[in-house]
Amino acid sequence: MSRDLTKTRALYERARRLIPYGVNSNFRYWGEEDTLVIERGEGAIIWDADGNRYIDYRLGFGPIILGHAYPPVVERVAKEIRGGTLFAWTTPLEIEVAERIARMTGVEKVRLANSGTEATMHALRIARAYTGRERFIKFEGQYHGMYDYVLFSTASTPAGSMGSRHNPINVQTSSGIPAGIRQYVINLPFNDFERLEETVTARWHELAAIMVEPVLGNAAGILPRPGWLEKLRELCDRYGIVLIFDEVKTGFRLARGGAQEYFGLRADLVTYAKALGNGFPVAAIGGRAEVMGIVEEGGVAHGGTYTGNVVGTAAAAATLEVLETELVIETIFQHGQQLMTGIDEILNRASIPHYVTGLPPMFSFILGVEEEPVDFRDYIAGDGRLYERLAMALIERGVLPDSDGREPWFLSYSHDERIVADTLTAFEEAVREVK
Ligand SMILES: Cc1ncc(COP(=O)(O)O)c(C=O)c1O
Repeated sequence: MSRDLTKTRALYERARRLIPYGVNSNFRYWGEEDTLVIERGEGAIIWDADGNRYIDYRLGFGPIILGHAYPPVVERVAKEIRGGTLFAWTTPLEIEVAERIARMTGVEKVRLANSGTEATMHALRIARAYTGRERFIKFEGQYHGMYDYVLFSTASTPAGSMGSRHNPINVQTSSGIPAGIRQYVINLPFNDFERLEETVTARWHELAAIMVEPVLGNAAGILPRPGWLEKLRELCDRYGIVLIFDEVKTGFRLARGGAQEYFGLRADLVTYAKALGNGFPVAAIGGRAEVMGIVEEGGVAHGGTYTGNVVGTAAAAATLEVLETELVIETIFQHGQQLMTGIDEILNRASIPHYVTGLPPMFSFILGVEEEPVDFRDYIAGDGRLYERLAMALIERGVLPDSDGREPWFLSYSHDERIVADTLTAFEEAVREVK
């Protein structure tokens, strides 16, 4: 079985001549043979340059919450941009989006940005300004974007390089980061109560923030253990540390109010991007009025030529309207659960040891493990090569998850029961092939 990729490969060759690796994000490079060139998408489906059809579970790394080219979003953007795109003044659209975000998530103040990277970068600056402290804790396997402070022990970290759990090493994810930056970040294993308590108790006076993905959205969607997020909240309260929920992946996906609503607790600052705009570039930083107030005082620089531009805000307004008025999240949970259960059953029947991780809107599975994985180190212990072979066998059959199980399977409102059934048929065949 093999798809015709003649035009895709020719286009990729052209891309390769000018664009490093032929892609505009390193994460999109799957090697010379397997890097796709996609021409269009609609609902749950995308088509490559040769017209091969794929059920899309990558969804642009998560943003597509409603479906590709979702008509109400496309139409609202088209309508609004006829009146111009950028004025360097506040627009009614920005106000609508801020009001919707506040209503849905409970944040008291909100500023817009263009990407998740920008949002977490600004959140960190606000936390530092608010506390007058400089260091922060993040957790191994978490990814918060492309700037220097956070590119340590991300989900791209190779096995065996992070040192012992008792004394984790900050592993740099990229060349080009000034040596001094390393001192500002402390990486700890996710879900490790003892290590967390010990570190915070010893170093709280240096800590501006604990920045956490409430679910490990870049490491197979591994879930917080019961009490873990509450522990973070308690320690931040006790020591005056700003708790930042990086909800770039979980926001407007796990619930209308994101992980804060799903897990029933509040951070001091929250970052949103991805599902906020159904694939258009828009992001937000929200939080408690007192902490966000540091921006208003003029203490913290936040801005950008394109923040609050009409394209992104129109998309956010339309996306949030659908999320507020239709049973989007409920539908996604229902279909995602069918898929998780079906995958679990097929792997059980095939006697492949595995653990299904995450929640129905963003789940994954780790092969070759028997016990519940609780952190990135557990993810790495799984059989990533078998996962990749399975993913490639699925892609041949027109089902497109990421080839790497770190990246969850994302579902949209457009992934209906038929799509789920077709996926499970392909999954059963792919498992038979790779076993
Ligand atoms: C949790 C998390 N935070 C931040 C980012 C960075 O967002 P962006 O790629 O929009 O800059 C990502 C991107 O995948 C992410 O998953």
